[in-house]
Amino acid sequence: MTETKERQAHWQGVYTRKNEDEVSWYQARPETSLRLIANTGLGREAAIIDAGGGASRLVDHLLEAGHADVTVLDIAEAALAAARARLGEGAERVRWIAADLLSWRPDRQFDIWHDRAVFHFLTEAEDRQRYVDVLQSALKPGGHVIIATFAPDGPEKCSGLPVMRHSPQSIAAELGDGFALVETADEHHVTPAGRMQHFNYARLKRVG
Ligand SMILES: C[S@@+](CC[C@H](N)C(=O)[O-])C[C@H]1O[C@@H](n2cnc3c(N)ncnc32)[C@H](O)[C@@H]1O
Repeated sequence: MTETKERQAHWQGVYTRKNEDEVSWYQARPETSLRLIANTGLGREAAIIDAGGGASRLVDHLLEAGHADVTVLDIAEAALAAARARLGEGAERVRWIAADLLSWRPDRQFDIWHDRAVFHFLTEAEDRQRYVDVLQSALKPGGHVIIATFAPDGPEKCSGLPVMRHSPQSIAAELGDGFALVETADEHHVTPAGRMQHFNYARLKRVG
């Protein structure tokens, strides 16, 4: 199996076995993400991508707030299908992309890249570099990046997979000189099973 196929099989299995509101990362309303997106100061026409968005309800809240250009990318078709089914007709206002973001070739550029709990699965330096390369081709000059990972005192695994935990500063260091750290946030996420998980968020702006 190729790497992509292994990743796909893992995530497709997760979303096939569980409802979208049963996964540990489920949030009824992703408050921190919505606040950081609002803090970019960009309006409702901004092109936003939720990279590794899965079946997250972020897209529901963005549509409700009037955002008109929203893309959700995920490696698991089952996750996108769950979000589409939930949104009903609203799903037609969203662009859905089933792809491994590490090998994805964007055909356009975005104003805002949002990733909650995807970057932290990249435990190999080579994969993190691939992620940064894709991010650079997908983001407009001056665009904003919001990345959330488990914090240094957060869990060591997510969905049974090992993660690399980050501070906002280590996220910024991984992205390199082309990005300036603008804002940080932390979140104490309570899973549907009642466990607390500490997340760090970094909002960065593409510079140069
Ligand atoms: C922990 S979940 C977080 C989902 C969503 N961001 C949220 O906060 O609800 C990680 C997500 O990343 C997706 N994913 C993992 N690796 C990926 C990759 N290489 N390319 C695209 N999606 C990926 C998974 O299918 C899953 O939906």
